[in-house]
Amino acid sequence: MPLQNPERYTVTAALIYANGPIHIGHLAGCYLPADIYVRYLRLQERDVVFVSGTDEHGVPITLKARKEGTTPQEVVDKYYTQIKESFQEFGISFDIYSRTSKPAHHQVSQDFFTTLYDKGIFREEVTEQYFDEKANQFLADRYIVGTCPNCGNPNAYGDQCEKCGTSLSPDELGNPRSTLSGGQPIKRPTKNWYLPLDELQPRIKAYVDSHPEWKTNVFGQCQSWLNQGLHPRAMTRDLDWGVKVPLPDTEGKVLYVWFDAPIGYITFTKELLESRGQNWEPYWKDKGTKLVHFIGKDNIVFHCIIFPSMLMEHGNFVLADNVPANEFMNLEGDKISTSRNWAVWLHEYLRDFQGKQDVLRYALCATAPETKDSDFSWKDFQARNNNELVAILGNFVNRALVLTQKYFGGKVPPRNNLFDIDLDAIESIRLLPGQIAASLEAYRFREALSLLMDLARVGNKYLADTEPWKLIKTDESRVQTILNLSLQITANLAIVMEPFLPFTACKLYGMLNLPGYKWKDAGGIDLLSEGHRLGEAPLLFDKIEDPAIETQIQKLMDSKKANEQSAIASAAGAAPPAISAAEAKPAISFDDFTEMDIRVATILAAEAVPKTKKLLKLTLDTGLDQRTVVSGIAEHYQPGEIVGRQVCLLANLAPREIKGIMSQGMILMAEDAGGSLSFVQPDKPVSNGGTVR
Ligand code: MF3
Ligand code: ZN
Repeated sequence: MPLQNPERYTVTAALIYANGPIHIGHLAGCYLPADIYVRYLRLQERDVVFVSGTDEHGVPITLKARKEGTTPQEVVDKYYTQIKESFQEFGISFDIYSRTSKPAHHQVSQDFFTTLYDKGIFREEVTEQYFDEKANQFLADRYIVGTCPNCGNPNAYGDQCEKCGTSLSPDELGNPRSTLSGGQPIKRPTKNWYLPLDELQPRIKAYVDSHPEWKTNVFGQCQSWLNQGLHPRAMTRDLDWGVKVPLPDTEGKVLYVWFDAPIGYITFTKELLESRGQNWEPYWKDKGTKLVHFIGKDNIVFHCIIFPSMLMEHGNFVLADNVPANEFMNLEGDKISTSRNWAVWLHEYLRDFQGKQDVLRYALCATAPETKDSDFSWKDFQARNNNELVAILGNFVNRALVLTQKYFGGKVPPRNNLFDIDLDAIESIRLLPGQIAASLEAYRFREALSLLMDLARVGNKYLADTEPWKLIKTDESRVQTILNLSLQITANLAIVMEPFLPFTACKLYGMLNLPGYKWKDAGGIDLLSEGHRLGEAPLLFDKIEDPAIETQIQKLMDSKKANEQSAIASAAGAAPPAISAAEAKPAISFDDFTEMDIRVATILAAEAVPKTKKLLKLTLDTGLDQRTVVSGIAEHYQPGEIVGRQVCLLANLAPREIKGIMSQGMILMAEDAGGSLSFVQPDKPVSNGGTVR
């Protein structure tokens, strides 16, 4: 059951990996609902801390560094700054946005580990783990790929299949390959410390079962994990990037990134409150604290099962009261993908649509993937702006203010006799804050937003029904009442819109010449007193015209085209297989390739090797020397027809005796799918000894 009347709130938003920029999927899935919730709590004058930052450890970081040819430290420095700045500009109002690479965090997570270790919670085990001999490294998590046992995806990671979402361990993968060398890994023994989730299962189940109010997608996923039975999970890794394991003789071992990262929530709360000179502990340990984790659906198991187990075993900590995870948001009908550049990047949006943060906040909240995956499209974005923000909200506010300007010189007119139509409007105002609050407290943000728009609709209808512009000639007193109430609606809108549309709320307060109200003030009709002078009344929102939208759609089409071309290019590399091409070999490094000394040579003499059907003895001029090579080509070439030809020779193949003849190298031959052989030869004359690379 949810905690009733909490004394304080600790609200966290997932610590995103600092290995790429933020896109709309992250915002809609996690950061925007978290921000709306926290802004609402602050307006309610609740005691709340809003904590987040970047996750700077783990394989996703080191892989990105490899890909960019740089160091993990440079990767996290670059993206921490970029992510932090774009969140700030977008109005995500974290109380602290920190990073897990800080020494303070290493300390807190090591202490946490040591406490569990000293309590004897971990199971210490030596197991055989995949190891890449070429890279000289153990292959945890994303360092290994293979076939998903669940859906057959041949490129599932060692920790998760991105196709079907199943969480995996490297041992479950079919045909495992190293993502470092592409080679087949071997197994080597190594010691790790396991959290015995199997033993903890009954307590975790009791915890999850005590929260039937959790969102169906979250509760359901937890139950499915529990039904399958939890397995012990290693809390350490053989890697060199991360928080060092705080035990003797553990060189080359770090804490599992999913062990240290959620502890980051604690570290950052501590950092925040210490900077304010306050005690952080109540925010994590006092029973009156409501802890809420905002995350995307791929993080559910870590926040609902693993992290709570860690907290339980440590003792003294409160557990999450709720984990309102969203599903995924697609883009124009297709899965958002960084590698295919199929995304709307926040920093690009902020550049292309300056001053329009609230339009994106509105569009994302209105289509948030709260109960199922949803879709963002630019046409919908445009329609939400033009048909809703401009035509409903902006239009109502503008009419109320402009008419007041026109008829009463910008001063709030008095409220006179009230009729039924006025009383109905007043009732709508009175009910609204409670309705929105109920939706927000139940994490139903889309519903809350549409309630807000309903009040603007009520306002528009009120003006349309009462027609003050017609009455002004005959009944000024009536017009005074109508505009007074319209302005009260506007002021109420300013209060309740703040969590969703903070920039617009600020603008609207300026137009109303008000300093800003709290949530408890909403619902009333005396927010603006008679005679109060209003401010300027610019438009709240502008129409977004087609060209701006077309530019964005074109940008996506360009990505799509680039993806298609690279797919065609890679397909064209191999001619369509006539029969069937031999299976691809695992990847090798460029260094592996350069170890081969391949050279152009000329055949000086050729003769059959006696008592064999296949072999010819060749004498070659290699530019370096004259040498003998035995080659299995007698069924394909007559000795007489090949003298004088140039061929390619693998010159540094170790010499080998074949039928009593010392063969010094190997001629390169291309084999057709039907089995016939032909020389690989330069298509222009090349001097003997010329290298092939
Ligand atoms: N880095 C993870 C991700 O981007 C989220 C970590 S959340 C926390 O998916 F719990 F670890 F903090
Ligand atoms: Zn799968």
